[in-house]
Amino acid sequence: METKLIKLNSENFDAAVDEAAELIKKGGVVGMPTETVYGLAASAFDESAVEAIFEAKGRPQDNPLIVHICDYVMLKDVVASIPPAAAELMRGFWPGPLTVILPRSSAVVPAVSCGLDTVAVRMPSNPVATELIRRSSLPLAAPSANLSGRPSPTTAAHVMRDLKGKIPLILDGGACTVGIESTVISFCCEAPTILRPGIISLEDIKERVPDAVMSEYAVEPVVEGGQVSSPGLKHRHYSPKAAVTLVRGELSEFADYVAERRGAGVFAMCFSGEQDAISIPSVEYGARDDYAAQARCLYATLRTLDMLDAQCIYVRCPEMSDRALPVYNRLIRAAGFEVVEL
Ligand code: TXA
Ligand code: MG
Repeated sequence: METKLIKLNSENFDAAVDEAAELIKKGGVVGMPTETVYGLAASAFDESAVEAIFEAKGRPQDNPLIVHICDYVMLKDVVASIPPAAAELMRGFWPGPLTVILPRSSAVVPAVSCGLDTVAVRMPSNPVATELIRRSSLPLAAPSANLSGRPSPTTAAHVMRDLKGKIPLILDGGACTVGIESTVISFCCEAPTILRPGIISLEDIKERVPDAVMSEYAVEPVVEGGQVSSPGLKHRHYSPKAAVTLVRGELSEFADYVAERRGAGVFAMCFSGEQDAISIPSVEYGARDDYAAQARCLYATLRTLDMLDAQCIYVRCPEMSDRALPVYNRLIRAAGFEVVEL
C-alpha cells in the first residue's frame, strides 16, 4: 500500500481533512496529529476498521484503544454513564490531554476495549484532530501511531518511519506541542485512579476531584499475577532499540560514570546545557527543571538515538515529583525499572 503524507497548510486544510474523513467513513485508518502524540485513527463503531489499527501497529490484542470525540453529544454515544466527578474533570480539562475511563456504550465495538465493559475517551484540543472527528461524524478510536513497543511519534515523519506501506494516509499538522501521551484516569475503580501520568498532574486533578489517587504502577513494575486495571501497564513501552539505563546523581558523577563506559554505540542523554560536561557522545532532552520541555523532547530524542545506532543509552534520571512524573514514568519503563544510584 502506498502511504500518502499531506503537509497541511491554510490552502489545503479543508480538502485534506475531507479526504481523510472520507477514508475513515469507508473504514480506513489515518495518521492524525493530536496535541499529545500522533494517533492512528479509525471509526470506533466499525469492527474491521478497529482490527486494521491493531494489525498496522502490531498491537497486542489485550491492549485497548482510546476513543476521541469532538463534543458532548458524541460523548453520549460512547459511554453508558458519566459520574459527576468525571464530568467535573471534563469541564476542567477538555478539550485537552486527559483520558477518562468510563462504562462503555454498546455502540462502541468491543474490539476497541478488547472486550472490557469500559471505554477510554478523550476530547483532543488539536484543531486537525477535532476537525477530522467532526467531518467524519464518528468517534475515532486511536492509539499512538507508532509500531507497538516503539517510542510514540511526535511528528508525521515519525509516523511515516513506523507505518509507511501499512496505512493509506498521514495528515502532517507539525510537531506535537505536549509530546507525551494523555493522562489516563479511571472512574471504574474504587477511587478515581490515574493509570498513566501525563502533563495534567495528580495535583491538577485533585483540585477538582480530591479523592483521586495515582496507581502504584505509574512507577513500579506490574507484579506477576497481580490485578491490572489497565492492560497497557503490563506491556513493555516507549522503548528505543538500545538498552536504556537511568542514572541518578550529580552531573559530575554522571559524567565520570559514562566516561568509564565509553564505547561504540554508547550515548548519554542529559538535560539541556549539560552536554559540555560530558565527554562521550550525548543528546539533550530539556532543562533539568523544565518538565514541559522534557516531555516535548523525550520521544524525539529516543528516536534520534535510534537513528544514531545507539546500543546503550545512559540517561540523567528525571525527578519523581508531581510535575516530573510523566517523563520519569516513560523512562523507567524504557529502562525496565532499573535505576543506577551514584
Ligand atoms: O495522548 C494519548 O492518549 C494518545 C493520543 C493519540 O490520543 N493516545 C494513546 O493511546 O496514547 P495508546 O493506545 O498508545 O494508549 C492508550 C492507553 C493504554 O495504556 C491502554 O491500556 C489504556 O490507555 N486504556 C485504553 N482503554 C482502556 C480501558 N478501557 N481500561 C483501562 N485502560 C485502558
Ligand atoms: Mg501507545
